[in-house]
Amino acid sequence: MKVLEEDFTTLAERVDRALASIRDMPESEREKAMELKKSIEAFHELALRKIVRALRETEAGKEVLLKVVEDPAVYAVLLMHGIIKQDLFTRVATVIEEVRPYMQSHGGDVELVKVEGNTVYVRLNGACSGCSLSAVTLKRSVEEAIKARVPEIEYVLMAKDELASGFMPPGIVGADVNLEQSGWVQGPPTSELEEARPVRVVHDEYDLLVVRVDGKVMAFRNSCPHMGLPLHKGLVDGTVLVCPGHGFRFDLTSGECLTAPYVQLEPFPVRVEDHRVWMRLD
Ligand code: FES
Repeated sequence: MKVLEEDFTTLAERVDRALASIRDMPESEREKAMELKKSIEAFHELALRKIVRALRETEAGKEVLLKVVEDPAVYAVLLMHGIIKQDLFTRVATVIEEVRPYMQSHGGDVELVKVEGNTVYVRLNGACSGCSLSAVTLKRSVEEAIKARVPEIEYVLMAKDELASGFMPPGIVGADVNLEQSGWVQGPPTSELEEARPVRVVHDEYDLLVVRVDGKVMAFRNSCPHMGLPLHKGLVDGTVLVCPGHGFRFDLTSGECLTAPYVQLEPFPVRVEDHRVWMRLD
């Protein structure tokens, strides 16, 4: 039989070509062709549902069904007719891929970590991390998109014990294959970072403070914007670092100076990959 000699891809391309030619038809012809397509599909769906129902009636039948569904052609046809559903992870991952360009265009990024029951765990990076208004809006966009397209999901949470990058300006976000070759400098492993306890990192002429705070990692120049004194010996009070020089106070979650307006610690882009901190110093 000719059909058996053609593989899944060839057949799928044949369907695509036929559909493309239908789209070019005059409207009345197109409607007739689409009605033919729909009626054939409905006929096939009816027959396929009967086959699947019969197979599900016995354990042996269920085994056969599980086996044939592994075939991509069988899977695609049953999926197309709504007889089987994609697994939750695949469906959520599809939504994430769809929202990612929007997140990246706003300087953020999102990654699916796992799906457990009705809960999705994601990792948010760049402008999505933190608690600025734009970060909150981006998080909500992800949550709304997932819940709208995958109604079984009730909760979208940040993955626990996952540290996100704290500062990532637009234009620097991206899936660099080799971080070192892409200009990123290796920082400490995340296991060495205690909550709100800045670690001093010196790299060439750069003197930095790296700190884990509120589930994200920040890197700042180790220099007080008041008179340039190093900050690594400053006291930490909650998430506030106090400069040992003249007592200016800095919010470690953002680098904002709480003592003097318009003064701020200098942040560096950070990313966390495989439990290690990477920084961009150029
Ligand atoms: S140098 Fe930090 S407060 Fe003066």
